[in-house]
Amino acid sequence: MKRIIKASSIALALGMCINAQAADFNFSTKVDSDANTLVVFYSQDGSNSQFKTLDKQFDGQLQRVIDIENFTGDYAKVAQLVAPSKSNYSRILVVGTGKADELNKAKAAKLGGNIHARLVKAKADTASVIFDDVTGANDNAALAANFAHGANLRDHRFENYKKEPSTETVSYTFDVDNTKQTRKLYTELESIQAGVFLARDLTSEVATEMTPVDFANAAKELASLGVTIKVLEPKELKELGMGALEAVGRGSQQGARLVVAHYKGSDAAPIALVGKGITFDSGGYSIKTGASIARMKSDMAGAAAVLGTVKAMALAKADKNVVAVMGMAANMVSQFAVAPGDVVRTAEGLSVEILNTDAEGRLVLSDAMWYARKHYKPEIMIDVATLTGSKIRAVGNEYAAVFSDDDTLVSQLTLAGKQVNENLWRLPLGYKDMLKSDIADITNVGSGGPGATTAATFLEHFAGDTRWVHIDIAGNALVKKGKDELSPGGTGFGVRLLSEWLLAN
Ligand code: BES
Ligand code: MN
Ligand code: ZN
Repeated sequence: MKRIIKASSIALALGMCINAQAADFNFSTKVDSDANTLVVFYSQDGSNSQFKTLDKQFDGQLQRVIDIENFTGDYAKVAQLVAPSKSNYSRILVVGTGKADELNKAKAAKLGGNIHARLVKAKADTASVIFDDVTGANDNAALAANFAHGANLRDHRFENYKKEPSTETVSYTFDVDNTKQTRKLYTELESIQAGVFLARDLTSEVATEMTPVDFANAAKELASLGVTIKVLEPKELKELGMGALEAVGRGSQQGARLVVAHYKGSDAAPIALVGKGITFDSGGYSIKTGASIARMKSDMAGAAAVLGTVKAMALAKADKNVVAVMGMAANMVSQFAVAPGDVVRTAEGLSVEILNTDAEGRLVLSDAMWYARKHYKPEIMIDVATLTGSKIRAVGNEYAAVFSDDDTLVSQLTLAGKQVNENLWRLPLGYKDMLKSDIADITNVGSGGPGATTAATFLEHFAGDTRWVHIDIAGNALVKKGKDELSPGGTGFGVRLLSEWLLAN
């Protein structure tokens, strides 16, 4: 199948050509015998009745292949065979699901991503997937819908700058137990997917085309979904006393923006999601010297994730009150940029000595957190930020780090992450005395101590009495290669996790 490249309205507003829709799914109760590829599942310990029926149809050829290949149904192992000539299929994939009752929606989504990548590579343009009878820790409909979701997530492409964008994709027919239920769950996941794609596209876009103003304009597109958008300009930031955010913005011509996106799907006290939105992080005068500087267009991924989550909730018409508050700035060098050693005053009232201009994320977050609390009185505040290299050294690129004194929230969010393959690992808050300043209330960098923690502890000063969680997604935001549900480029990390958490709690 040739994929239809649709430009979304957001893409058009930004002059980009974004792929709004991914693969194509038809949920049915029948196998499509005209499909090019047939996919059948095989568990380590289940009855594998669908496999056995097929095997009979093909005179024992399937069993023969898996015996020769020593295939026993291990999770995500695939036995691929050329289909017997008595069928219309070109190939059959026997896909291992592991132990039957351990198959859950997270594993199904991962499988969907991997099988999709394999089919695209093989130029299998139509595939029939026999989901009938596949159950495990989740029911058949949830597994099928999440498999499709994973395939779509893997299919996403950011190819605006390619002369010839790729067009190959797969058209699927799923044979499921309950088409209505599968479609319903799939539709819910499509809302989340749209939020992930928005976050990914915003992250993948190059820094010169994704300035604070460009980001604000992209946010304004959500107004058509009933989301209230507010954008504060540098002058207003100054008037409100948001000296830290304003200061980081001073190094670039446009200056900083505070962008607010509020989806009010209920009258409950809002959940505030605060995002770090550094559209480019050069480090400022404490300039970055290593290769990592070339990845710093992704330093607004926290802002992208919280905006994407609001989009997902609005599309799903969720009965949730969610407000995203995004501190946007480009951390650049210029004659107007903040100088190391400068002192700024935050809206909270605390003065901060900026010992290192490369620790800018916590500065923009401090004022964004204050604004979220002051104007929305949230029940819970969660900030998401590509905050520290130290976090990457501690837990790597696959886990995000979570910091909070609220054990309940940490466990709820960790569990939500597990359901969607966006895993969190808890690191401590503390080392408060490492932020002592000679001339101001606090410094923006810890003197020694664990960097990811001192950054989190800096933020804690701006959480007040609000239940608060900090999620450091440094290293999670951008990938070079596709893997599981991830396609190359922005990952949208956080949208699935936060959406899952919001909808479950
Ligand atoms: N945006 C970076 C953190 C980062 C590093 C994200 C690598 C993704 C990949 C952040 O603004 C930063 O520069 N942090 C410094 C803080 C230090 C100067 C205290 C760091 O972690 O090195
Ligand atoms: Mn920095
Ligand atoms: Zn940064």
